[in-house]
Amino acid sequence: MKKEIMGRRVAIVVVSLVQSLLLLLLVLSPTTTTATRTNPSVIIVGAGMSGIMAAKTLSDAGITNIQILEATDHIGGRMHKVSFAGINIEIGANWVEGVNGKEVNPIWTLANDLNLRNFFSDFDNVSSNCYKQGGGLHKSSVVEKAIETVDEVNGFGEKLGATLHPSGKDDISVLTMQRLMNHVPSDPVGMVVDYYTSDYEFAEPPRVTSMQNTVPLATFSNFGEDIYFVADQRGYGSVVEHLAHQFLKTDKKSNIVDPRLMLNKVVREISYSKSGVTVMTEDGKKYEADYVMVSVSIGVLQTHLIKFKPDLPHWKILALYQFDMAVYTKIFIKFPKTFWPTGNGTEFFLYASERRGYYPIWQQLERQYPGANVLLVTVTDEESRRIEQQSNAATKAEIMDVLRDMFGKNIPEATDILVPRWWSDRFYKGTFSNWPIGVNRYEFDQIRAPVDRVYFTGEHTSEYYNGYVHGAYLAGIDSANMMIKCIKKGMCKFHIPAKYT
Ligand SMILES: Cc1cc2nc3c(=O)[nH]c(=O)nc-3n(C[C@H](O)[C@H](O)[C@H](O)COP(=O)(O)OP(=O)(O)OC[C@H]3O[C@@H](n4cnc5c(N)ncnc54)[C@H](O)[C@@H]3O)c2cc1C
Ligand SMILES: *[C@@H]1O[C@H](CO)[C@@H](O)[C@H](O)[C@H]1NC(C)=O
Ligand SMILES: *[C@@H]1O[C@H](CO)[C@@H](O)[C@H](O)[C@H]1NC(C)=O
Repeated sequence: MKKEIMGRRVAIVVVSLVQSLLLLLLVLSPTTTTATRTNPSVIIVGAGMSGIMAAKTLSDAGITNIQILEATDHIGGRMHKVSFAGINIEIGANWVEGVNGKEVNPIWTLANDLNLRNFFSDFDNVSSNCYKQGGGLHKSSVVEKAIETVDEVNGFGEKLGATLHPSGKDDISVLTMQRLMNHVPSDPVGMVVDYYTSDYEFAEPPRVTSMQNTVPLATFSNFGEDIYFVADQRGYGSVVEHLAHQFLKTDKKSNIVDPRLMLNKVVREISYSKSGVTVMTEDGKKYEADYVMVSVSIGVLQTHLIKFKPDLPHWKILALYQFDMAVYTKIFIKFPKTFWPTGNGTEFFLYASERRGYYPIWQQLERQYPGANVLLVTVTDEESRRIEQQSNAATKAEIMDVLRDMFGKNIPEATDILVPRWWSDRFYKGTFSNWPIGVNRYEFDQIRAPVDRVYFTGEHTSEYYNGYVHGAYLAGIDSANMMIKCIKKGMCKFHIPAKYT
């Protein structure tokens, strides 16, 4: 408690200091301001959805003196296809989430423009497909009851959430919400249903996740409850390529040949001052510009991969370190033949283990990849971290044991397995952000806030849609607009409402 109050004081002092600095800057440096207004240069760190969208927004506003530095050898970031068993599958984002609602998800529009091959995910019959540890199916009525209970608890949570202070100071965890309703799942069916409705979306357990910021979730209440699985050989990342093609030069084969996009450029240092920024890459090169837009994941910002000079202010570091980078692992496994149920109502199935989160959610991909005999099993959080550190052979052996439990001893051995390792990857350090209990609006605004000439974007800066592709897309636009307002109108102050008003 004491610590929190101290932190708040420090933060307020620092915020007002930064504000006065910004004001001073405006008053004292008319020359740099004029120079940057005519032909400002901007470095964008990272070429995922948000970085590309920020660059495009700047470019559309006439700010074309940009340099995009991307650490890997491709654009798209966490939207990434990989070849597995002769097909391209997605190791990152797979669904357009939030479709058929009152507003149109911009990613849905893009996916349709591109004719991306996609499949409605039907979860209606999942209660008939819940396997027992030790074999056999649970009665669908039992599973149905557990799902209804979750719906009731969430309905209560929505009502309670609407009465809480908008700042988030009275926020509670999803687990506390369950306790208030006296429904804490404590048997294999209850736990797997809880996992399926919570962890399968947020990649962290209910004790961690903020109720006020996830119940209801803006993605589903604004854009609709439906989700569509993208299974296109061009990859879900072709959405990012499509956006990049609209402002970067391409050759006849539609490869990007614009020198303003540089791949294999790992940013290690960002120096910033009142007059500009210098960005250093791992290969020892230096890039100078008037502004920088940092789009790397919050997981990366929580490490020292990029050194800021001077250090980012205390309030900024604290806000960045308080948010969560969750881990969601999509394991693909190939078999010589299909031995699981197929047909309508069988796509998703659950494994109700006594060990919560142990290979719990399964998807058979016969519609998406006919004849491929591929299953997808999803794990998260601690299981993800454990599995990333063991050999694929060990993971495959665990998966075979679970499958024998569900489908009998005589099933064929898997012939191939793919285990993405997003958490170990220094350019990601996890898969997407999750809003934890204890972070309120004020701290969230600090995550998004620029520091002098350093701007921030990425899914974790999206005001309502953190964690999603559409969040990254909208955040790219928002952060670029903040920078444009500063460059063109000299309005560089980012307003952070006071903590508890
Ligand atoms: C496994 C998984 C499943 C997901 N499922 C879904 C889903 O089904 N639906 C959905 O809507 N969303 C999903 N998401 C979330 C979605 O993919 C992300 O929210 C979104 O793609 C993030 O875009 P971004 O631009 O913010 O970040 P990124 O895509 O991470 O882009 C940042 C870029 O910065 C680069 N970079 C990092 N460090 C450096 C450095 N030092 N120097 C230079 N470049 C650097 C990275 O290589 C990357 O290209 C999923 C994500 C994962 C990983
Ligand atoms: C599966 O569902 C679709 C759409 O509801 C229906 O048209 C089709 O006949 C069903 N197929 C089977 C085998 O039941
Ligand atoms: C639901 O799943 C069960 C078990 O896999 C299957 O037998 C049944 O036909 C499915 N029902 C519907 C309505 O799809």
